[in-house]
Amino acid sequence: MKNYLNELLESLKAGYVPAFFLYDTVGSELYRQRVSQPDYYLYDLERQAISNCARYYQGDKLLDIGSGVTDKMDPIKKHYREYWALDIDEESASAASDNYIVSDFLNFKNTENYDCFFMGSTVSNLRIKDIHQLIKNCGKITIAADFAKDDVDKMIRAYTDPQGIGEAMEKRGLININNWYGTDFPVDTMTYECIWNPVTFIVETNLVFQSPHTINLGNTIFNYETGDKIRIGRLRKFMKHQWEWIFNQVGKVENIYTDDGDEYGIFRISSS
Ligand SMILES: C[S@@+](CC[C@H](N)C(=O)[O-])C[C@H]1O[C@@H](n2cnc3c(N)ncnc32)[C@H](O)[C@@H]1O
Repeated sequence: MKNYLNELLESLKAGYVPAFFLYDTVGSELYRQRVSQPDYYLYDLERQAISNCARYYQGDKLLDIGSGVTDKMDPIKKHYREYWALDIDEESASAASDNYIVSDFLNFKNTENYDCFFMGSTVSNLRIKDIHQLIKNCGKITIAADFAKDDVDKMIRAYTDPQGIGEAMEKRGLININNWYGTDFPVDTMTYECIWNPVTFIVETNLVFQSPHTINLGNTIFNYETGDKIRIGRLRKFMKHQWEWIFNQVGKVENIYTDDGDEYGIFRISSS
């Protein structure tokens, strides 16, 4: 992670932290705890959508990109000869499969002709240009994505569980940066907020400074005032046709499989 200093500097200048900083061993464990919270509806909807479409998949080598550790993929996995896991967190990748790759998925090129899967609505936190790069690099890819809901509270509750696991996970990003880069973000005193933006269709999670603070990082000084925010999550909740439109810019959506209530989608995409 220490290699990502330039990326970190650029993102902090733009006011955010890239999501992959959340995922050390502790962050990955917090993610697993988060998905088992009753209000984290995404996990159950994805399970339903997987069970609705697993029978349509079969092949040689499946690559689970941003795999984490989950049994959610079992119904699809069993139709493949080999299951490969790719994750930036080595512990997660190696725990997910004996066949694993530790890499930034944005640098991955599908030279081995894997059937790629990008699950967990991880796509929601990527920039559109990165989504397009990923599709181009993979060629054929299946992407799971959450849809916008009329029930705004439902979307917010998924990231604001009463146990504070969602908050702890987002704070883990700044704790990791403190540990890896020697900064002193005052994580304990920063407050967590989670906001729905109805114009951009994004759930934003932020950590807010409660007093002025200065951060020194790689010859750059960041001066924060009370109320300044660092954005951690930028979770797009587009409608089905919006996701389809975005994916179709660089690939071809062949099928869309959903959960029973049509709230969550699995998009099967080939190269255009
Ligand atoms: C939202 S979790 C999804 C985990 C799992 N696929 C699921 O559906 O439950 C995102 C996963 O992607 C990994 N990840 C995040 N950014 C990454 C990157 N740039 N390159 C590779 N892996 C990344 C994290 O370590 C984490 O395991």
